[in-house]
Amino acid sequence: MTQGIFITGTGTEIGKTVIAGGFAAALKGAGIHVGVMKPISTGDTADAQFLKHAAQTDDALSVINPIYLRHPLAPSVAARIEEKEIELSHIETAFAALQQKYDFVIVEGVGGIAVPIQDDFLVTHLINKLQLPILIVAQVGLGTLNHTLLTVGFARQFNIHIAGIVLNGLRPETAGLAEATNPLEIERLTGVPVIGVVPYEKKLGTAYPDPTFLAAFMNQHIAWRKLGIR
Ligand SMILES: Nc1ncnc2c1ncn2[C@@H]1O[C@H](COP(=O)(O)OP(=O)(O)O)[C@@H](O)[C@H]1O
Ligand SMILES: [Mg+2]
Repeated sequence: MTQGIFITGTGTEIGKTVIAGGFAAALKGAGIHVGVMKPISTGDTADAQFLKHAAQTDDALSVINPIYLRHPLAPSVAARIEEKEIELSHIETAFAALQQKYDFVIVEGVGGIAVPIQDDFLVTHLINKLQLPILIVAQVGLGTLNHTLLTVGFARQFNIHIAGIVLNGLRPETAGLAEATNPLEIERLTGVPVIGVVPYEKKLGTAYPDPTFLAAFMNQHIAWRKLGIR
């Protein structure tokens, strides 16, 4: 069966896209045929384009990102305002096509794990539908224990397998005791491996970072094998 992972986060603007693209570039660099997907985007399609660039895939944006809503809001709210129906079948069809084509598919979520997609359908329901394990991206500093535990607890209510956690955005010059102690405390409290702590790197904060650099940077800071995927 084709393998894959769903990249979620403890919120928005956490680094899901950067880490998802980094994982795609790293797998591609290791010779794995990897596809990417951003099932739902709101506001713009920058995430889907970042992922496509990072993985260097040739799929149409409509397959990588089957649902697009103009308003930069939670999907359920944007759809209501735009008087649109979010067709989950479009996501399933695109995902099935990517699974068929690739050995591994990396899917980026939308916002955090409890974000509503339809009236009674959250990101967690989408994860259940796609039957993927998740990787949680969290901030590295003070506050992240609370956000991460809430995300892990919520995922577990839906029987979602949590493969690992990445802490993102370390700034060594200002990092303190919270940054130093969070990885082990998160592992102790959740039993989920923290597979990496990723520093802030200016070169990553662009629309199209060099995929080779992206792969090397992520491989330096993230132990992907701890995901236990292969
Ligand atoms: N490690 C990092 N170093 C530098 N910039 C980063 C890093 N991680 C994320 N960013 C930047 O922070 C912003 C939010 O990251 P992004 O991956 O888009 O988050 P999300 O997908 O969770 O909304 C983006 O502008 C991105 O370029
Ligand atoms: Mg994103």
